[in-house]
Amino acid sequence: MIEFSVVIMSKMSIKCIIAGLTLLLVHNSSGQQCNTRSFQRLCVTDGDNVVLENERLSMTISKTRGQISALYYNSRVDNGIRSTNLLRGGGSGYYIANIGVDGNSLTVGPTIADMKITQSAELIDLAFTHRNTSNWPINFEFHLVLERNSSIFYYYSIHKYLRDGYTVGQLRWAIRANADTFKFYSVDGKRAGPTPTQQAINSAQSVQDWTYLFADGSVYSKYQQISANEDINTVFGIYGDRIGLSLLQTHKEWVSGGPFKQDLTTHTGQMLLFHEHSGHYGTPGLVPTEGWAKVYGPIGFYLNDGQSLSQMYSDAQRQLSDEEKKWPYQFVTAPEYNAQGRGSVSGVLHVDGSPNEEWVYLILTEPHVDDPQLETATYMYSATAKENGEFTIPAVRPGTYKLQVIAKGVVGKYVQNNINVQGNKNNDLGTINWNQESNGQLLWQIGVPDRNSAEFKSPPGFPSPIPNLEEYRKFGTWLRYSIEFPNDPNFTVGVSDPAKDWCYFMPMIKTPGFPDQLNLVNVTQNIQPTNWKVRFDYNGSSEGTATLTLGLAARVRAGIRAVINGQEILMLDSFDGPVGDSALFRQAAHGIFRQQIVTFSQSLLQEKNLLEFTPPGAVSQNHRDRMVMWDFLRLEVSN
Ligand SMILES: *[C@@H]1O[C@H](CO)[C@@H](O)[C@H](O)[C@H]1NC(C)=O
Ligand SMILES: *[C@@H]1O[C@H](CO)[C@@H](O)[C@H](O)[C@H]1NC(C)=O
Ligand SMILES: *[C@@H]1O[C@H](CO)[C@@H](O)[C@H](O)[C@H]1NC(C)=O
Ligand SMILES: *[C@@H]1O[C@H](CO)[C@@H](O)[C@H](O)[C@H]1NC(C)=O
Ligand SMILES: *[C@@H]1O[C@H](CO)[C@@H](O)[C@H](O)[C@H]1NC(C)=O
Repeated sequence: MIEFSVVIMSKMSIKCIIAGLTLLLVHNSSGQQCNTRSFQRLCVTDGDNVVLENERLSMTISKTRGQISALYYNSRVDNGIRSTNLLRGGGSGYYIANIGVDGNSLTVGPTIADMKITQSAELIDLAFTHRNTSNWPINFEFHLVLERNSSIFYYYSIHKYLRDGYTVGQLRWAIRANADTFKFYSVDGKRAGPTPTQQAINSAQSVQDWTYLFADGSVYSKYQQISANEDINTVFGIYGDRIGLSLLQTHKEWVSGGPFKQDLTTHTGQMLLFHEHSGHYGTPGLVPTEGWAKVYGPIGFYLNDGQSLSQMYSDAQRQLSDEEKKWPYQFVTAPEYNAQGRGSVSGVLHVDGSPNEEWVYLILTEPHVDDPQLETATYMYSATAKENGEFTIPAVRPGTYKLQVIAKGVVGKYVQNNINVQGNKNNDLGTINWNQESNGQLLWQIGVPDRNSAEFKSPPGFPSPIPNLEEYRKFGTWLRYSIEFPNDPNFTVGVSDPAKDWCYFMPMIKTPGFPDQLNLVNVTQNIQPTNWKVRFDYNGSSEGTATLTLGLAARVRAGIRAVINGQEILMLDSFDGPVGDSALFRQAAHGIFRQQIVTFSQSLLQEKNLLEFTPPGAVSQNHRDRMVMWDFLRLEVSN
């Protein structure tokens, strides 16, 4: 039996109806059946176990749970691979949601009512619809798409509001692969190598969540494999001697927390992870409201073969750049995705009259979104500017947006409202000139405004089996804080070096860390408050105001107090937004960025000045995990 998909057709634009009539036929069971692993043509076999196959790959999906139980690759270089299930047996491509329903926390997955097959000569789209909404109260469907003669299968999902009382902590699709085959990983081409084995993990000492100390003194943590957040398009994956399985994120308009969001990629257990939403590094929960709908993805799972890890990773990067040209994917016919009616925004971004020398991020958000870091419900479209300042934000759904721009080396944010996007049109904004905020003459600055603490000194962490780690990606940098800075930083402007003399985080007590962790480095707990010092000379006017701007790259349950020449000028018990982003302990150089501006009378300045930072109040051993992470500090005077 063959019938037309009326819902899909009615939403399509006129010019596509002809193509739609000839191509998009919906089949019940009667499509071309396939012989499992014949790798002869694009085909699907319906049943309790659905087989989806083409010339390059074959997968089996358990229909009721929507889980992929087997995946085979028609390798050209390794015959053994062809008959190897690349997944770990039984339901190893699967969905997990950590949710709240009327205040109760639950871990749930889909129960599938229907699977709809949409098939043409070029592709097969399987749509799995979640049935039992008593446990997981959301309208949820996910799709697996396979094109003819392609070694990528695509995943995307559509979530739609069902009722109030539903909140989301984490949504993810995971692949648990065959450990005998997939012995290697690559996060970004540099963080790449053999995955620590399960036996090694089992015999290691657990020193933090998902963080293991091996007998040789090295420490592995899954957080060492978080994504390089600043990249809009990314590839990471797991690899064997002659086989690769890479996750291609062609675009990230759906990412909760915006383009600076960091998340897990792959980790031990041969896990390959796609997070639709997560709270990692401080992203708030998702709270769908009436009318809400969101499409996550598509992302691609790319299978390839090759002679080495680096070769297969490079090939996956090449494939990603091909995929970028296909965005938005025309095979997604859901009106919420709007593959055919998108527009774009372009222009030239100057800072104080010329292109910025460092990176510039441009983000289009809904008008009500003040801070992309804290936004989880809506799409955010981002792009970086070229060296000459030119930018194009592609594939934007029609609507009215707010443009938000941040740039390395520039304090603050540029915002332009009422950016109108029409379907299939480009809105050229011309040259935008962002005049940097100024509060007078710059006396000094420590660090570079870039929402990142990596330019400062890190105490040494533990060595890791993951190669090419920045120091902050190693476990336990905070445990050696008191060894590196026994008297806390004592920074003299013009003499001291931020890379050596300023620690990237400021703990609230002298020995941050739990006592059993401190034992690992033979440090005795000392719960005295920290006291950081900045010394600088001043010979200007005592009239007017001075402005201290603090950029904080992350924070865990801490505040800050600032004192100039004995006079308190700032006392902050807490900040707006999440109380903790765990960025330090989860081995990142930033979490949620915040900026704090303090204005005080220039009469408080003297020839020789002492600026001190301390905790905002009394401390105790409860402060062992409390800290702020620095982005930059600057002092300006109005006269
Ligand atoms: C739906 O899920 C709930 C909670 O797990 C269960 O009690 C109920 O029996 C399920 N209903 C159906 C129709 O499967
Ligand atoms: C499939 O793609 C490969 C290249 O990836 C090509 O060599 C081959 O001819 C194609 N086969 C078909 C049936 O189109
Ligand atoms: C901090 O630096 C100043 C200036 O170099 C110096 O006089 C002072 O002794 C230092 N304090 C500590 C605790 O090292
Ligand atoms: C800690 O002290 C013990 C006993 O003195 C010593 O064996 C060990 O090597 C020390 N560890 C470190 C990390 O300094
Ligand atoms: C004030 O300090 C600046 C920078 O240190 C210096 O260039 C200038 O000569 C000083 N002016 C006076 C009047 O001492």
